[in-house]
Amino acid sequence: MSTERKRKVSLFDVVDETSVSAKLSKVNGSLSFKPPAVPSGINRWNGRPYSTRYYEILEKRKALPVWQQKDEFLQVLKANQTVILVGETGSGKTTQIPQFVLEYEDVGKRSMVACTQPRRVAAMSVSRRVAEEMDVTIGEEVGYSIRFEDCSSHKTMLKYLTDGMLLREAMADPLLERYKVIVLDEAHERTLATDVLFGLLKEVLKNRSDLKLVVMSATLEAEKFQGYFSGAPLMKVPGRLHPVEIFYTQDPERDYLEAAIRTVVQIHMCEPQGDILVFLTGEEEIEDACRKLTKEINNLGDQVGPVKVVPLYSTLPPLMQQKIFEPAPAPLEEGGPPGRKIVVSTNIAETSLTIDGIVYVIDPGFSKQKVYNPRIRVESLLISPISKASAHQRAGRAGRTQPGKCFRLYTEKSFKGDLHEQTYPEILRSNLANTVLTLKKLGIDDLVHFDFMDPPAPETLMRALEVLNYLGALDDDGNLTKLGEIMSEFPLDPQMAKMLVVSPEFNCSNEILSISAMLSVSHSTGGLQAAIAIAKYQNGILVCKHCTFCLVVPNCFLRPREAQKAADEAKARFGHIDGDHLTLLNVYHAYKQNGEDSSWCYENFINHRTMKAADNVRQQLVRIMARFNMKLCSTDFSSRDYYINIRKAMLAGLIDIAPHYYDLSNFPSCEAKRMLERLYNNREREKADSKTRK
Ligand code: CDP
Ligand code: MG
Repeated sequence: MSTERKRKVSLFDVVDETSVSAKLSKVNGSLSFKPPAVPSGINRWNGRPYSTRYYEILEKRKALPVWQQKDEFLQVLKANQTVILVGETGSGKTTQIPQFVLEYEDVGKRSMVACTQPRRVAAMSVSRRVAEEMDVTIGEEVGYSIRFEDCSSHKTMLKYLTDGMLLREAMADPLLERYKVIVLDEAHERTLATDVLFGLLKEVLKNRSDLKLVVMSATLEAEKFQGYFSGAPLMKVPGRLHPVEIFYTQDPERDYLEAAIRTVVQIHMCEPQGDILVFLTGEEEIEDACRKLTKEINNLGDQVGPVKVVPLYSTLPPLMQQKIFEPAPAPLEEGGPPGRKIVVSTNIAETSLTIDGIVYVIDPGFSKQKVYNPRIRVESLLISPISKASAHQRAGRAGRTQPGKCFRLYTEKSFKGDLHEQTYPEILRSNLANTVLTLKKLGIDDLVHFDFMDPPAPETLMRALEVLNYLGALDDDGNLTKLGEIMSEFPLDPQMAKMLVVSPEFNCSNEILSISAMLSVSHSTGGLQAAIAIAKYQNGILVCKHCTFCLVVPNCFLRPREAQKAADEAKARFGHIDGDHLTLLNVYHAYKQNGEDSSWCYENFINHRTMKAADNVRQQLVRIMARFNMKLCSTDFSSRDYYINIRKAMLAGLIDIAPHYYDLSNFPSCEAKRMLERLYNNREREKADSKTRK
């Protein structure tokens, strides 16, 4: 241990903060340690007096279960490099633990605390809340970073970021040196990026004895994490959950949406005060349900209390997201029927966001989940049954503040017999091309021996290597090429990144930029893959034959219930015979030509917010292109090559769609495939060897 680190450890034990700083300045004025003691009433982070709001929230914070274990947690953290923390949703893990860490560690300008979140909405919403709790401005001492949006500054000490963003940061800073403590939150969700971070951080920890890792999780898979992190101590925060009564339907429901609405109305009419949380699967369904609920409850007139119906899904603008935290409306008259807040949400409300005051939960038993079939190379989002663990979490939301009720819109038999115990980790149901590219860029060449908590299927890894090989991102020995390195810098699918990188060659980088940006704001992440599977390759031209079946339906097209025909007609005006990609380009061009005007969007059933987001993404992609001196260019619109060039560039990215690749047995011989097979054979042999030795 270096003398400098020894000193740090001994100084931590000193309680009197003034003497710490006095000693420090003698030792070395440039070291960053705990700031000197500040007069009470002054915010140590920004030197300003605390607001009254700060003290109000502080009282609430102190009542959270994690506060009981603050000292214990800090001691365990001090004594260990990795700590696993398990606690019920709402016990204060996400908002409090990173603040505890800040108070304790010598976090300064060059050493921050990171807290990862699988969901963008959670990263934004939680960081706002924590900034409020610390009485600082969001984006300054506390910030967040999500794909295409960085709200942090040189002052930031605590950063909430998506797990995908931390992975991106690791590409530029492999030892994540700017961080002193990394908190991997919502580990139970087992998202693809979190799973990769597990393996990566395990390596980083070996190389950086000064780094600490906190793994936080809501469910009981914790023992698995403990095994994986070689016996790291496990701390449990006892939840203060009230009992939740579970109700099942007698018979299976034919239409869960309709059943959910019916149940909400019944609760509102018959049950005592308490807010309602309904789990649905996606934006369209949720907006539809909100409209219907408002209408049906309004039709009931004065015999029921007033309601506030609020949607919650990932693409909702931040201001609208905040509405879930507003209180329920007051009864119309004193002693009248209670007012209620009704939150209609995706899985976000399952564990990542806690809404206080929920007493009734309606669980139809479905969520949108990513599925990947490596055989036909299609990744899509499908509405699928949830797991038992999810159902348990959902029910738990009803018992946060008082005893609650959970209405499961499926039979008990179905719960017991049909639902899996746990949701499958995402890594086992994803296309891994992007992940493999990231790992290669991180310098991890031996994918087979990479320490995955649940190793993906060999076939899926093989597909990923193969596709990257076709795209030219990996050479035949599986090494990252110069092209692959540039591709990995773009926060896009490898296919799209490749299109973009080659587009200047085909004199159409402006157009490919617009298409990529439009696809990036599409909310069906599986869309592109699905489109690829049904697109056809003809004479060097990519033609999507079945646009109506394509999953590439970005939410730039609005289709309100009351004006579906008009909306369809408007959409048809943008339609391009050669497929969805060029249709999106048409929309983008029309939007720009009409001065980015919101009323033009309204008249043409185009989502203005989506268009603005696409424009923002486009600007960021332009900046990355500039870094690599890639030229921005277009073919003359009147030239017959205009669309041909665009399609050529697209084809360079979507190369793996050629029909003969569909059948596995016809797979062309490929170095990457052979390489992987060799590695797998070796591994199988090693396993067999170790068995015989035993
Ligand atoms: O991470 P965990 O589920 O353990 O809890 P948390 O997200 O830290 O939330 C703790 C408490 O903070 C919640 O029960 C809410 O009362 C409050 N909170 C809030 O009011 N607004 C937010 N945006 C987030 C949390
Ligand atoms: Mg949390």
